[in-house]
Amino acid sequence: ARTLTVLGLESSCDETAAAVLRRHGDGRVEVLSDIVLGQEAAHAPFGGVVPEIAARAHAEAIDGLARQALQASGLTLADMDGIAATSGPGLIGGVMAALMTAKGLALGAGKPLIAVNHLEGHALSPRLVEPLDFPWLLLLVSGGHTQLISVEDFGRYRRLGSTLDDAAGEAFDKSAKVMGLGFPGGPAVERAARTGDAHRFDLPEPLQRRAGCDFSFAGLKTAVREAWDSIPEPDDQDKADLAAAAQSAIASHLAKRTERAMAVFAEAFPHLEHPMPLVVAGGVAANSEVRAALKSAAERQGFRLIHPPSKWCTDNAAMIALAGAEHLARGETDGLDAPARARWPL
Ligand code: KG4
Ligand code: ZN
Repeated sequence: ARTLTVLGLESSCDETAAAVLRRHGDGRVEVLSDIVLGQEAAHAPFGGVVPEIAARAHAEAIDGLARQALQASGLTLADMDGIAATSGPGLIGGVMAALMTAKGLALGAGKPLIAVNHLEGHALSPRLVEPLDFPWLLLLVSGGHTQLISVEDFGRYRRLGSTLDDAAGEAFDKSAKVMGLGFPGGPAVERAARTGDAHRFDLPEPLQRRAGCDFSFAGLKTAVREAWDSIPEPDDQDKADLAAAAQSAIASHLAKRTERAMAVFAEAFPHLEHPMPLVVAGGVAANSEVRAALKSAAERQGFRLIHPPSKWCTDNAAMIALAGAEHLARGETDGLDAPARARWPL
């Protein structure tokens, strides 16, 4: 197989990103450039991602970022073997920005277009770091996704669980909003929780009696709001205690459901060498209590925790270029009529 060089573009949530990646014939990959532009400051006043603001910021930034990523790689558009862009799932106005730019570049330069499922990018992301062998179990926990995916081969993904309501990151963000801790909420909750007593408030454990590996965070959010409203004049210690309780409830729920998925995965692959790989990606994976809870669950189940560096764990274009290059290597490309999709299960 020949060496393939791909420009990848991403704009499906609140990160605008462009990257150039080279995939060698033996499957090894090299990230030649990798640029991410966050929008946190634009969304902070609203305590969450505002789709219209996100779409406008992506539209303004994406063409320049594509040029910068090419420049930083030392290559030109003519050197690319294909142009990959996220075509869903995500906020549709945002998805269109990268996809339309990719279509324009592909048409103008006469290169194939690869329309990539954002979740496939996350699923393959550990390959940006090391040539990890299939299969592995992926826990994806961010502001937009909460999923457990058995990554069995290229193109073979089995969803073992997902959230019935809010994403894990939203649970952090909404708890932070209730307590006035600022946005993004995850880091703020983690900071506040450091001096808190997690046992003072008794938050309910979600889905206690429900089998399977799905998640639910809506009840926790309500419980945090009720606990907060029950404090007459909340001070810093109240904040710290409630933040600690919320963080510990989220971490423990994530670990419990992931432990079930590990059992399902282990049963599906009885001959796999131990410890088996559990890849944890997404912004919430940065939380040290979440990580500690997952690490002990992994050890109990004969798994080892793999945590890609945070730049490839959160939204980025290198993972989109990687998924694009894998499709291209298999001769799978898309027409210029590839649609932007708000929903697109893996
Ligand atoms: O993967 P990510 O950066 O992007 C999107 O979802 O677009 O995830 C962002 C989410 C936010 O909800 C944020 O509050 C959460 O990850 N997060 C954290 C931490 N850092 C970021 N949650 C808990 N603890 C953290 N340290
Ligand atoms: Zn993502």
